[in-house]
Amino acid sequence: MQEQLRALQQKAEGDLLKCTTLEELNEVRIRYMGKKGELTQILRGMGKLSKEERPIIGSLANEIRDEFDEKLAHITKQIKAQELEQRLEKESIDITLPGIAPEKGRKHPLTQIIEEIEEIFLGLGFTIEEGPEIELDHYNFEALNIPKDHPARDMQDSFYITPEVLLRTHTSPVQARTMEKMKPQYPIKIIVPGKVYRRDDDATHSPMFHQVEGLVIDKNIRFSDLKGTLLSFAQQMFGPKQRIRLRPSFFPFTEPSAEVDISCVICNGKGCRTCQNTGWLEILGSGIVHPNVLEMGGYNPEEVTGFAFGMGVERIAMLKYGIDDMRLLYENDVRFLRQF
Ligand code: PHE
Repeated sequence: MQEQLRALQQKAEGDLLKCTTLEELNEVRIRYMGKKGELTQILRGMGKLSKEERPIIGSLANEIRDEFDEKLAHITKQIKAQELEQRLEKESIDITLPGIAPEKGRKHPLTQIIEEIEEIFLGLGFTIEEGPEIELDHYNFEALNIPKDHPARDMQDSFYITPEVLLRTHTSPVQARTMEKMKPQYPIKIIVPGKVYRRDDDATHSPMFHQVEGLVIDKNIRFSDLKGTLLSFAQQMFGPKQRIRLRPSFFPFTEPSAEVDISCVICNGKGCRTCQNTGWLEILGSGIVHPNVLEMGGYNPEEVTGFAFGMGVERIAMLKYGIDDMRLLYENDVRFLRQF
């Protein structure tokens, strides 16, 4: 019987080793160790054994069962590991495939220009101020020496919310607001980027556009300071060979006033279609702060003087990038915007 058992053990182990799936393992287990399994069958014959032999065979049977269970557990573990490996292999991802890149945005050309203007003036010692787009008539006009019946109001026809509240027509009201906030301290040396609104709409005018205002107030500020500041700006913005030209003009809040041109960036001043053969392009309005404006702002025109300017951001963007229709800047066509 001992030999029978030993033979059974060997056969069972051999069968276990041949298994490649968990199902097969289970079948082998049932075949040998199940209620009707081969081991049980052999043990049925124990009744014929002598008293002395019985415990020996019994413990051998237990030993065989334990060893079988141990083997079974071991092989089960191996098969499970193999199956996992195979599954992972099937699921594996080809990391060498090119991915789907997310579309990358970029700054709008107007934002780029505003930031460039800011950088230049920060480099010249200016700080940045802001003001409200919904503005009081007082700051937009009155405090800038433009009384109710002044003809200059026609040039800046706006969108009124009430007779005293409107969408600002320029960034100049922030001049008045800053003086009111700072008085009587000086120097003031600020730029003011922002949106402004006018009743205008064609290829070169939009009802909403951007300006950057400048204001300097200090002792002994002269016209030459304005000119030097603007020349430095033009050369940093458009190139070191840039020239500027100042033409007499009129603004109620500056006296004297000047319109400032840069030499044409397209033809270098020789004359072309863009500059209408003049060789010059207008980029901003400017002047020496009117004494009335200083006084209304809380400053003594006998003590301090100042200069101010206001430039159109769209116009500068169009000149810098050679854009001939302002509306392109607002249509948000990515084919256009991608070029900057
Ligand atoms: N605010 C003026 C405009 O919008 C420009 C300007 C600003 C002129 C400051 C002189 C001084 O046309």
